[in-house]
Amino acid sequence: MDRHLFPLLSSFLLLMLAMKALRGHAETTEPNQRPYIVYMGEKPREFVGMPSLAHSELLQKAIKLSNEEATKRLIYSYTKSFNGFAAMLSDEEARKLSGMEELVSVFPSKQMQLHTTRSWNFMGFPSSAPRGPFESDVIIGMIDTGIWPESKSFDDAGFGPPPSKWKGICQSNHNFTCNNKIIGARYYHLESNISEMDIPSPLDNEGHGTHTSSTAAGRLVTNASLAGIADGTARGGVPSARIAVYKVCWSDGCSEVDLLAAFEDAIADGVDIISLSIGGGPMNYFDDAIAIGSFHAMKKNILTSSSAGNSGPDSFSVANFAPWLLTVAASTIDRKIIARAKLGNGEKFQGMAINTNGLDGEMYPLIFGGNAPNISAGVDSSVSSFCGEGTLDKKLVKGKVVLCSGLSHGSGPLLAGAVGAIMQTYGANDVSFEFLLPVSVLQSNSSEQVQHYANKTRNPTASISKSEGVFDATAPYVVSFSSRGPNPITPNILKPDLTAPGVDILAAWSPLSNPKVPYNIISGTSMSCPHTTGAAAYVKSFNPTWSSAAIKSALMTTVYVMSSTKNAEAEFAYGAGHINPLAALSPGLIYDAKEIDYIKMLCGEGYSTKKLRLVTGDQSSCTSTNNGTVFDLNYPTFAFQAQQGKSFSTSFQRTVTNVGVSNSTYKAIVNAPSSLKINVEPNVLSFDALLEKKSFSIKIEGDATKTTISAVLIWSDGTYNVRSPIVIFTS
Ligand SMILES: *[C@@H]1O[C@H](CO)[C@@H](O)[C@H](O)[C@H]1NC(C)=O
Ligand SMILES: *[C@@H]1O[C@H](CO)[C@@H](O)[C@H](O)[C@H]1NC(C)=O
Ligand SMILES: *[C@@H]1O[C@H](CO)[C@@H](O)[C@H](O)[C@H]1NC(C)=O
Ligand SMILES: *[C@@H]1O[C@H](CO)[C@@H](O)[C@H](O)[C@H]1NC(C)=O
Ligand SMILES: *[C@@H]1O[C@H](CO)[C@@H](O)[C@H](O)[C@H]1NC(C)=O
Ligand SMILES: *[C@@H]1O[C@H](CO)[C@@H](O)[C@H](O)[C@H]1NC(C)=O
Ligand SMILES: *[C@@H]1O[C@H](CO)[C@@H](O)[C@H](O)[C@H]1NC(C)=O
Ligand SMILES: *[C@@H]1O[C@H](CO)[C@@H](O)[C@H](O)[C@H]1NC(C)=O
Repeated sequence: MDRHLFPLLSSFLLLMLAMKALRGHAETTEPNQRPYIVYMGEKPREFVGMPSLAHSELLQKAIKLSNEEATKRLIYSYTKSFNGFAAMLSDEEARKLSGMEELVSVFPSKQMQLHTTRSWNFMGFPSSAPRGPFESDVIIGMIDTGIWPESKSFDDAGFGPPPSKWKGICQSNHNFTCNNKIIGARYYHLESNISEMDIPSPLDNEGHGTHTSSTAAGRLVTNASLAGIADGTARGGVPSARIAVYKVCWSDGCSEVDLLAAFEDAIADGVDIISLSIGGGPMNYFDDAIAIGSFHAMKKNILTSSSAGNSGPDSFSVANFAPWLLTVAASTIDRKIIARAKLGNGEKFQGMAINTNGLDGEMYPLIFGGNAPNISAGVDSSVSSFCGEGTLDKKLVKGKVVLCSGLSHGSGPLLAGAVGAIMQTYGANDVSFEFLLPVSVLQSNSSEQVQHYANKTRNPTASISKSEGVFDATAPYVVSFSSRGPNPITPNILKPDLTAPGVDILAAWSPLSNPKVPYNIISGTSMSCPHTTGAAAYVKSFNPTWSSAAIKSALMTTVYVMSSTKNAEAEFAYGAGHINPLAALSPGLIYDAKEIDYIKMLCGEGYSTKKLRLVTGDQSSCTSTNNGTVFDLNYPTFAFQAQQGKSFSTSFQRTVTNVGVSNSTYKAIVNAPSSLKINVEPNVLSFDALLEKKSFSIKIEGDATKTTISAVLIWSDGTYNVRSPIVIFTS
């Protein structure tokens, strides 16, 4: 059994125990056991004896296991950055454990999902932007599918040795090598769960982690494109920053026990920013590995930038909504990738798809899938119209372009011998994907027209073009798949926080994946998250001591303002607005927050005092002075859930810190519809020094007649405009 399986267990003894655990697990897994996470809060100042022995003893005591059996059950002992462990438990055993005083939470580990380049220029952030003196000291921790280290985007020519604060390692299994750009790499998975499709090393054979890493911190690579599409210079937000890789996502998803182990190492290794394009369903904060891990990161001034999820446009679909996380929606840039379809009658349609090859202008016979059912397989026309695998008649479809009434990867048409497909989407047609054959995706009205032509013409023909990038004047808007607020657990904290490019993004790729190319175009909040990670690292490179909340605030109050005419859900689609990395260097004022501020909020939200004291590791939580409300958390946005049709009155407390010029006077400017009465007290804030703090309150009254009412508060000194959206909503 290989050492690499337990990257976080440093001592040899622990390794032995772990090996035993694995071996035992492989032999005797009981069907009713599954991985559980037992979270115990802040790590003790000193563990008495071996931490994993303490965890094993707890198991023995709580569920009456023998020493040997308890050791066998342990998967991870989390000891470096917080206290807890992962173990194979039955639900009954987990219930017994959760009654124990010394625990914050016990929850089953879930499998989470993975949720140029033109994009940086689009937001006014050219490669010539001023660079901070500390950019090469900034370390970005990428928790993802690993990395393809041989990509040109990660060439370390000209890079010095890693910053001295770096304490991480490089796991070199499978000939994986780090360099002075990729300064560390680890991977996490139970060995028995590593399938043949996976590589037991930090090497990325999926592509996702290589793509996100190069978006955040890839160096400049000229003449990058996907087969000539979207050609230009590919680059990350902070090309001089360092990358530390934590591979937690595999062919079976991303397990929470592994995620928590990655957080624990990233924090102890000394990363400055964590980038996480992964998410799951809504859970309470201490029943969620991402919320727990990012909370302990926040304590160490490490911001976690995370994806909002790809479950839009439904309300309450946003993931990664803890107030200490930066939650990023996905929006378009002014270049979209299209695939044209042309019919024999001369009609042309601008469809969506990423075709690295088209049909070279040649016209092929066209057939509607509904007219080519495989009757001998018992398929009728209403089924074959969707072109599912095995539903089409090969004799009728072979060598033709097939028209399908729905979206698929294209395996149905491909296996039936089609040369291309025109597909219909019923939703918004606002993103391009790659297919197994040349495709053009059309909206229903256009697709209907094609169907009519295919049905009524004697010899219908069609052709599909190779894709190209075209100018899109409607950008930016939040794309339909991007998850929307409100926040499902704490509705009075606005989520998502902001938006960034996440549609048709060209970035580095792993040639071990498909397609086998060095640069690829993909879409998702997975892509917008690392743009924001890069912007956050950019701010950090000028302000190395800023807290995670300060960096968040700088990014959120300096955005490009988005328009609710393009996104009816307004702030629940785009939060404060679109990132503007250059402006974020000069926020004027910031809304800062520390651990105790989040704890006060959780106290007010009803989290138990005893548990919060375990989380902080001291007695500071939920005392008479340390009990707060969600309205007083020093957040850079304001949200209030009112009752439909009722009048309401609410107030918020905030404190701003001057980071602009020492002598300055800010006036409150409020833009609100007449249905809201908003009073800011005081409405002038005068500062005599940098880092001086001033508090204010904001009282909002009105009638909740509409489902969402938006307003805005701007603190302005004439130079700096510190912008915070206000959202009153009912649901
Ligand atoms: C590592 O590289 C060596 C030398 O090129 C090769 O023989 C070996 O098979 C490689 N190992 C793996 C796991 O790829
Ligand atoms: C390993 O895989 C099995 C089967 O998919 C799954 O039930 C189990 O939760 C996995 N274990 C871990 C620790 O991820
Ligand atoms: C740019 O890339 C294309 C295809 O990848 C290649 O054919 C071309 O020669 C390259 N141009 C330069 C200047 O490197
Ligand atoms: C119809 O489907 C059957 C079963 O999947 C397959 O064997 C056969 O080749 C198909 N026939 C045609 C004409 O595509
Ligand atoms: C179909 O509808 C879209 C938007 O609603 C419009 O832009 C497009 O021109 C229409 N296509 C046709 C063929 O009418
Ligand atoms: C095309 O033909 C199919 C059946 O063969 C029919 O269901 C469909 O309504 C027709 N579409 C048009 C636009 O005529
Ligand atoms: C904190 O405030 C909340 C809401 O006002 C209240 O329910 C809770 O009991 C308070 N907790 C403590 C420890 O005072
Ligand atoms: C700030 O303003 C005060 C009074 O207006 C002035 O005396 C002081 O010199 C100013 N300080 C700076 C740093 O400009």
